[in-house]
Amino acid sequence: MNYITLNNGVKMPQLGYGVYQVSQEECERCVLDALQVGYRSIDTAQAYFNEEQVGTAIEKSRVDRKDIFLTTKVWVEHYGYKEAKASVLESLRKLRTDYLDLCLLHQPFADYYGAWHALEELYEVGKIRAIGVSNFYPDRLVDLCSFARIKPMVNQIEVHPLHQQGKAKEWMEKYGVQMEAWAPFGEGRSQMFTNPVLAEIGAKYGKTVAQVILRWHLQRGVVVIPKSTHRERMQENLEVFDFTLSSEDMERIAALDTKTSAFFAHDDPAMVEWFAQMVEQRKTNHVAAKEKKNW
Ligand SMILES: NC(=O)c1ccc[n+]([C@@H]2O[C@H](COP(=O)([O-])OP(=O)(O)OC[C@H]3O[C@@H](n4cnc5c(N)ncnc54)[C@H](OP(=O)(O)O)[C@@H]3O)[C@@H](O)[C@H]2O)c1
Repeated sequence: MNYITLNNGVKMPQLGYGVYQVSQEECERCVLDALQVGYRSIDTAQAYFNEEQVGTAIEKSRVDRKDIFLTTKVWVEHYGYKEAKASVLESLRKLRTDYLDLCLLHQPFADYYGAWHALEELYEVGKIRAIGVSNFYPDRLVDLCSFARIKPMVNQIEVHPLHQQGKAKEWMEKYGVQMEAWAPFGEGRSQMFTNPVLAEIGAKYGKTVAQVILRWHLQRGVVVIPKSTHRERMQENLEVFDFTLSSEDMERIAALDTKTSAFFAHDDPAMVEWFAQMVEQRKTNHVAAKEKKNW
């Protein structure tokens, strides 16, 4: 396993396992499988609703907690200083741990400064070893780096061969923020797993398209957290440290960049409206559920 040293000296595995869209029913088994095949970094989030299953799996795995790099993310509904702080303490309870290795602000909306102050404080008292953000486009990232007391250590954004985020990477490097790729395979959209260029490169090394993609991320210095619910794919995605893509291969992959998100752009005002509506809707549902409970 390769390790990346963050700007505060904390070492983070460059390859981890992500549990977005892993159901509560499957999550415990998946994380146990991932730990058994050798992953030592797990990426979850409050918004994935599977922190409890991640915590149970870690406990059951009997892998020493200090050997696992555990990440969660604070959801927008919990932004603001007080709410964010309380939500991280709740995440610790669900994850059955007394510290996080990395805690990210999931989205660059609403009162992220208040939430950031909570993370800074929890970092300073040792509840979190590293703090960062997610989906912060360069403008928001530079804003936070310029005005916050503690600069983020990581920014987790969409990165894959069809959306390589070269400009965002340059800004992160300027501010010493580690780039972490979410959807490192673009979730397989646009026929990623049968892309002819990636398949041809893989054939040269006896590697699959998934392995070529992960190797490309690693050689760019990016942290990756691929998701799979299949144990054999988890294993396959780990076997990427025994070959090196040539500079010609790297250039061919660089040429696949469409510079367009396969999902959505966080700087699109319509997208921000959609997020705001979703947060409002969730709040309404939450209040309704609470009232029902009190009847
Ligand atoms: N911060 C954010 O806003 C954000 C957003 C999205 C994701 N994330 C994080 O990033 C992690 C990864 O992103 P993601 O889950 O969206 O997408 P991804 O890792 O790019 O792709 C996952 C998809 O690829 C398939 N797959 C995995 N390995 C494969 C292999 N070797 N061969 C063929 N297919 C394979 C999986 O199928 P099976 O499961 O059926 O194997 C699944 O459909 C998430 O789990 C989450 O932790 C963060």
